[in-house]
Amino acid sequence: MAESPEPTRGNPGSTAELLRRRDAILGGVARATERISQASHWRDFMNDVLRIAGEATGVSRVYVFDFRHNERGALCVYQIGEWVAQGVSPQIDNPDLQGIEMVGGGFGRWLEHFERGEPIVGDIADFPPEEQPILEAQQILSLLVQPIYAGPRLWGMVGFDACERPQHWEKVEVDALRIAAVAFGAAVQREEREAMLQAMQRLESLGRMAGGIAHDFNNVLTVASGSVELLLDSLRQRGALASTDLPLVEAIQQALTQGTGLTRRLLQFSRQREDQPQDVDVFDSLRGAMPLIRQLVGRGVQLDLSSAPNVPKVRIDPVQLEQVLLNLVVNARDAMSSGGTLSIRVDSVESTLQNGTADSLPVGRWVKLAFRDTGCGMTSEVRERIFEPFFTTKSADRGTGLGLSTVFAVVNGCGGRIAVSSTLGSGSEFRLYFPALARA
Ligand SMILES: Nc1ncnc2c1ncn2[C@@H]1O[C@H](COP(=O)(O)OP(=O)(O)OP(=O)(O)O)[C@@H](O)[C@H]1O
Ligand SMILES: [Mg+2]
Repeated sequence: MAESPEPTRGNPGSTAELLRRRDAILGGVARATERISQASHWRDFMNDVLRIAGEATGVSRVYVFDFRHNERGALCVYQIGEWVAQGVSPQIDNPDLQGIEMVGGGFGRWLEHFERGEPIVGDIADFPPEEQPILEAQQILSLLVQPIYAGPRLWGMVGFDACERPQHWEKVEVDALRIAAVAFGAAVQREEREAMLQAMQRLESLGRMAGGIAHDFNNVLTVASGSVELLLDSLRQRGALASTDLPLVEAIQQALTQGTGLTRRLLQFSRQREDQPQDVDVFDSLRGAMPLIRQLVGRGVQLDLSSAPNVPKVRIDPVQLEQVLLNLVVNARDAMSSGGTLSIRVDSVESTLQNGTADSLPVGRWVKLAFRDTGCGMTSEVRERIFEPFFTTKSADRGTGLGLSTVFAVVNGCGGRIAVSSTLGSGSEFRLYFPALARA
């Protein structure tokens, strides 16, 4: 297909020119969506799409920002791609444009528009004064910015700057560019879904393998345990059990018990049980598991349990929820070998674009279950790998490295999210989010 000529040349106000421009934009959108549908990763098509959009609209710059939350939980934008017309100064390396807080940085109005699925469009001179300085510093006279949604989540925005002369956007042009933004977002969502699915499939096949091994190994252990019992009985009956033999036999028995425990955990991980989800009050489950939790953590660790009032229920298999609780408790205990405090808190959080939570939750209501310990914490290298099956920093008799991969599988299996923060030497926090059920 022939690339369209630069559309803003000629008399910008004439009807013929407006029609030509509209055609160019519609053609550009068609080419851009075609390009989007061909690539498997948005990073592969982004530059092409920005160039096509820039040439079709005749603007000075086209760019993509994505949204992320900073450590304080504020929603920020980061520029990740840009196309500029000849002679226009690029902004991709402008540090002032990286990490602008939307609400704190004076762009709360933009979020309100995006939340309604509407673009920001107009001449900078008509914008609220708090928005102007950063836009004027880039010589922008007019702009059009469309939100990009990956499913329900505001993922980013794509913008068009006019720096040579103010630019009026026809409604049909704005709508056409919105289609391009929708196609972009759909591609991002598809990619995220595929990645998640792949991770789950990897876990599942590992689980099946682990389950198979555990099952056979369990049989071997059962035979060994039975034989030791029989041998012990036989030696006793014949009066042939020397007092020095007993500790040896006990050591064998203890090792076998440990082995049985290990295979039980492997079987748990492989989740051979069918899921039996129910409407569960997380705090009730937590209280129900308290006797076991107390026993697990021992005397050295202080437990601090709390909940916000009226937290909605979640849909989960209660047995799996208990597994999750216990795995996190055991990890916290192991991290606090010389004592400390484990705080477990249940909350209800609403994620909107305005108040975006620190953990990039999709918009909606979530039940948050937070485990905070004052233990040894983790290095960032460890933190990156903790959900990998069989990743452990513990000795072979203390850890299999399956605790957190089980937690991951269970939480993801019911549509939830997990976030972790940790400081080496001062503790860790695991935040689990489950989709809240509507109140009955
Ligand atoms: N609360 C925590 N504080 C510090 N490090 C942690 C914490 N929780 C997990 N980790 C780290 O993550 C690793 C993986 O945890 P995971 O629960 O998956 O396996 P594990 O505890 O080593 O073994 P398993 O749970 O199978 O007995 C741990 O070995 C530890 O290094
Ligand atoms: Mg563990």
